[in-house]
Amino acid sequence: MSDKRRIAPSPRGAPLTGHLNRLRNDVLGLMMDGTSACGDVVRFRVGPLVMHLVNHPDHAAHVLIRNRKNYDKASRSSDCLALICGESLLTANGAVWKQRRRTIQPMFHRAAVVGFIDTIAACTSIMLDDWALKARAGEPVEIASEMMKLTFRIVGRCLFGADLEQEAHAVEDAMHVMVLHTYHRWRSILNSPSSWPTPANLRFRKALADVDAIVARLIERQRSNPPAQPNLLTMLMGSTDAETGASLSDEEIRNESIAFLLAGHETTANALSWTLYLLDQHPHWADVIRSEYESACGNAPPRMEDLSGLAQTLHVFEESTRLYPPIWAMERHVIADDEIAGFHIPAHSSVIVSPYTLHRHPDFWEAPGEFRPERFLKRDHEAFMPFGSGPRFCIGSEFALAEARIILPMILQRFELRGEAGQNVEPEPAITLRLKGGFKVRLRER
Ligand code: HEM
Repeated sequence: MSDKRRIAPSPRGAPLTGHLNRLRNDVLGLMMDGTSACGDVVRFRVGPLVMHLVNHPDHAAHVLIRNRKNYDKASRSSDCLALICGESLLTANGAVWKQRRRTIQPMFHRAAVVGFIDTIAACTSIMLDDWALKARAGEPVEIASEMMKLTFRIVGRCLFGADLEQEAHAVEDAMHVMVLHTYHRWRSILNSPSSWPTPANLRFRKALADVDAIVARLIERQRSNPPAQPNLLTMLMGSTDAETGASLSDEEIRNESIAFLLAGHETTANALSWTLYLLDQHPHWADVIRSEYESACGNAPPRMEDLSGLAQTLHVFEESTRLYPPIWAMERHVIADDEIAGFHIPAHSSVIVSPYTLHRHPDFWEAPGEFRPERFLKRDHEAFMPFGSGPRFCIGSEFALAEARIILPMILQRFELRGEAGQNVEPEPAITLRLKGGFKVRLRER
């Protein structure tokens, strides 16, 4: 290792708090300005904490793949997430993570996703029937909320074999409170202990208790009445540790269930909402999706073999996740001193790989701010990683891509969507990249 003291460049910050203020109020702007002023390795200081943003595919591969043993998930964002879902596939490290991933992976193989397709289409139809009533009554629809409810319903049926229709609204509210709370904790240097009865902590505890109660009911229902068709819960309940032969405890099953409820719906919902927002700005692409679907499926519901024919729909979705990646930052904890591009990366600091900045890096993308789905006619963009990279690559990517290619054309087949005038839709980074204030549309049946 060469000169370990070579410190990476840093944007100007306040003497004591460093970049805290901007991190709290405009983290995307801070990261974008940081990379354009300082290059591909940027050092941020948040009070006593040091973070490096690495903004090059090769540096991302160093952190997430080649030297991953030095960069684990025991980061501040993981600690915050663990307030919601404890030790689970999202947050675990080492042997626990490996064992869980091995157990759960078969549930998400491409072949298993085939079994989800009819359910995804059925849940979408229910939503669209409701939209038809709204369209006739001239009522607008709030897309971000609709997509959250839809993807939650899908996850409930596909992964938990349960109809969570009644719970969708309560979970949406609870998840909203929880993700904002954990994100506020992540972006603050000083947090009161989570056991203190502050108003924010009490709100969080109530939301968590609501979700816990729903998950406990789900587990109980499966125990007393095991379903004919295996699902994620039955798989978790039946799994044993390869070495010890021990089953997962109730708490471990609860943690995984909440992790999947969260990861399985929030990300996809945001990606779909951003896509519909972009299609509103680029209606020509909505027509492309419609005609592609008509030639692949006619009026019939989609089948797995049809999905590969929906290439343009996929490109639109990819371009949307390029511009607005639902997971906008992946944080890792640095175990031992390291060096990236000649810059010192100290032990116990954080490293961030941000799909948001990487997807807008001008060296890798022509006109990075423009919506151009056709750029994905070329496959294998090295600076494209909406689903992460390396062994922690998103386990649900096939599932999410199937959802996108079913839900988007089904919506567009039945409706024309027009964004209400005067909305200022902006990204709101929390755990995922949300649409601040949502996105309201008027519907017209086709
Ligand atoms: C468009 C939708 C989605 C996006 C953009 C997305 C993105 C990601 C990313 C970037 C990671 C890696 C995080 C890191 O390395 O720190 C990840 C991990 C994960 N995702 Fe997704 N995801 C999506 C949908 C889903 C779905 C539908 C599920 C489940 C049904 C899911 C479950 C998970 C889980 C459990 C992990 C942790 C995997 C591990 O560490 O082994 N995701 N996701």
